[in-house]
Amino acid sequence: MDDDLPPLPTLPITSQETLRKCRELPVGDKDIFIASFPKSGTTWMQNIVFQLVSASVHQDDNLPLDHISQYAPFFEIDAHWESSSSDGPPQMISKIRDAHKALGYRIFNTHLRWGMLPKGPGTRYIYVVRDGRDTLTSFYHHMSNQHPDDGGFQGDFEAFFQQFLDGTIAYGKWSHHLASWMPHCSTAANANANPQILLVRYEDLKQDRKQEIVRIAKFLQVDIDANNQAFMDRVLERTSFEWMREHQGLFHPISVRWKPGYNFIRKGSVGDHDSLFDEEHRKQFLDTVTKDLGGANHVPTWLHEYCFHK
Ligand code: A3P
Repeated sequence: MDDDLPPLPTLPITSQETLRKCRELPVGDKDIFIASFPKSGTTWMQNIVFQLVSASVHQDDNLPLDHISQYAPFFEIDAHWESSSSDGPPQMISKIRDAHKALGYRIFNTHLRWGMLPKGPGTRYIYVVRDGRDTLTSFYHHMSNQHPDDGGFQGDFEAFFQQFLDGTIAYGKWSHHLASWMPHCSTAANANANPQILLVRYEDLKQDRKQEIVRIAKFLQVDIDANNQAFMDRVLERTSFEWMREHQGLFHPISVRWKPGYNFIRKGSVGDHDSLFDEEHRKQFLDTVTKDLGGANHVPTWLHEYCFHK
């Protein structure tokens, strides 16, 4: 499927050489990839996975957390990779290797497509999907609050809306990202799902975080006791919007500057596109995504069942 898609536009901090390293990293059963189109709840999932993994390996003896990217770094950026050496497989920088060693697992977050990731026995991938209209809305707030000198977006919402639908922003079209991942995910109509991938919807996390966290823990086969009330209470507290907002410094990207007053843990709601979309935006969004995915008669069933919340 990836072969049918136009190439993925990445960030300027991702070279072709890094993409090669990403593909070739040897991976195994202690490796967890959190994949998503940007603004789908990636950071939330990084934190959920970190809380589960650190609790399972270290019980109550919590690992010190300075920033979530310590343990769940951004996979595809140049600065995270050792420069090439002629012998041996690619590896990440020692700071990341050391943190992963302390954790006992390697967690990565990525916006790459399925076909661009390394595959290994027992490696697990969590694909987070969010209603694309809310994703667009969240992305607009993110980019327009990023400092202009650090790549912030300076146009208005209409301009961003068009660029999102045209796929001329980093990571291209939302529809193409879905087309790369969703056919491999377990959905009602998919008998050929890859058992190494877990699909998690942002909206389901919002609706029943506890149920989703138990499902994620089972998939990761981490040793946690969901019946231990104190443990579950702690995980639920630390993955709540309120706790993450209060401890925002642990979660907001540190590689760019933000305009004053912007909260990266911003609103965290379902249906926030209602604040910016009118009927014409809704129609244009749906028409474009439908066309991208092959036209009205060929739209895969997963689109409406999993990728739009209403
Ligand atoms: P909003 O901008 O709509 O608030 P990503 O990490 O992929 O960049 O996604 C960011 C989005 O996830 C933001 O959405 C952010 O507020 C939301 N988010 C982060 N932590 C959350 C939480 N604990 N609960 C709900 N939403 C959360």
